[in-house]
Amino acid sequence: MSGVKVIGTGYSLPVKVVTNDDLSKVVDTNDEWIYSRTGIKSRHIISGDEAVHTLAVSSAEKAIKNAYENDSDFSKDKIIAVYVATMTSSYVFPSTACIVQKELELPESIKAFDISAACTGFVYALQTAADTLQTHVGDEGYVLVIGSECMSRTLNFSDRSSCVLFGDGAGSVIIKKDDSESSVFMQLSGTEGNTEVLHCGTYNGGDGYLHMDGGKVYKFAITSLNGAIKKLLENSGSTMEDIDYVVCHQANSRIIDSVKKKYPGHEHKFFMNMETCANTSAASVSIAMADMYEKGLLKSGMKIITVAFGAGLSWNAVLMTV
Ligand code: UT7
Repeated sequence: MSGVKVIGTGYSLPVKVVTNDDLSKVVDTNDEWIYSRTGIKSRHIISGDEAVHTLAVSSAEKAIKNAYENDSDFSKDKIIAVYVATMTSSYVFPSTACIVQKELELPESIKAFDISAACTGFVYALQTAADTLQTHVGDEGYVLVIGSECMSRTLNFSDRSSCVLFGDGAGSVIIKKDDSESSVFMQLSGTEGNTEVLHCGTYNGGDGYLHMDGGKVYKFAITSLNGAIKKLLENSGSTMEDIDYVVCHQANSRIIDSVKKKYPGHEHKFFMNMETCANTSAASVSIAMADMYEKGLLKSGMKIITVAFGAGLSWNAVLMTV
């Protein structure tokens, strides 16, 4: 399979910032407990008209502007698909992707749909985008891949074990096909169907709030991240020496700290920004990637691993040249 090239990124966070101290005024918690267990200091939470589709659109606008700056061949008329990873869509239907198509005046010949895979959603969307480019026939095409989430809509702010962990936000990445020999794109994924450990909904008397057995998710996270990274490296004949960055789902710094211990000397390659964004579910990897480009960390030609885990239970990972 050919690789892909990232040509534009952008992210968008709600205006309102809620610190751990702010949360300690509404629920029995404190900054020391939250920060020491998760690495989170604050999160952005929607207010006013902000919603999954508005965040998706504003992050995509930034990515499109960035793509025009980076690639003289790019035009938004050449976008052949828009995929939005989300599980907190503004409407049950239509999809957020359809709203993005309309708001950004993207071509009507586009594929546009949402991908619901909880926190693993963006990495699945990236895999779907790469497949789309692979099978696309015709002139050069671009795919807009978005992760957008308003987790605050699912939180019970009297449940201290979950409400302190999440935040809202969106990230967008625009990719095109890269046929050069040095460019790679490999993916792995897995699912262990489970509706008990991490779920949210109103089916069968559910209260519509997120419910989580934190300890079980923690164990699943470490096992799946470790397994995915190890397998991707083995299958691609690579070692961590060949990888520039590992962009994990930004759920908890302790989870990432535990994984990076397996790669002594490469700890600096494991990016983290949950301190100010918290866990934004399907948006987390997309925001992290856009944040890394903005900080000048990610550069064309680098090799990265993106890896996520979440409700499902599910996990997935991509090794790609950016
Ligand atoms: O995208 C996937 C999303 N999920 C995750 O990534 C979650 C993965 N799991 C975790 O990150 C951790 O399990 C947590 C951060 C959720 C919890 O950390 P923990 O060290 O496993 O804490 P715990 O659940 O064992 O709770 C320890 C204590 C309990 O008190 P007692 O029973 O020992 O008296 C909790 O009631 O901490 C208490 N506690 C809190 N205290 C202050 C739970 N939440 C809070 C809180 N503030 N927010």
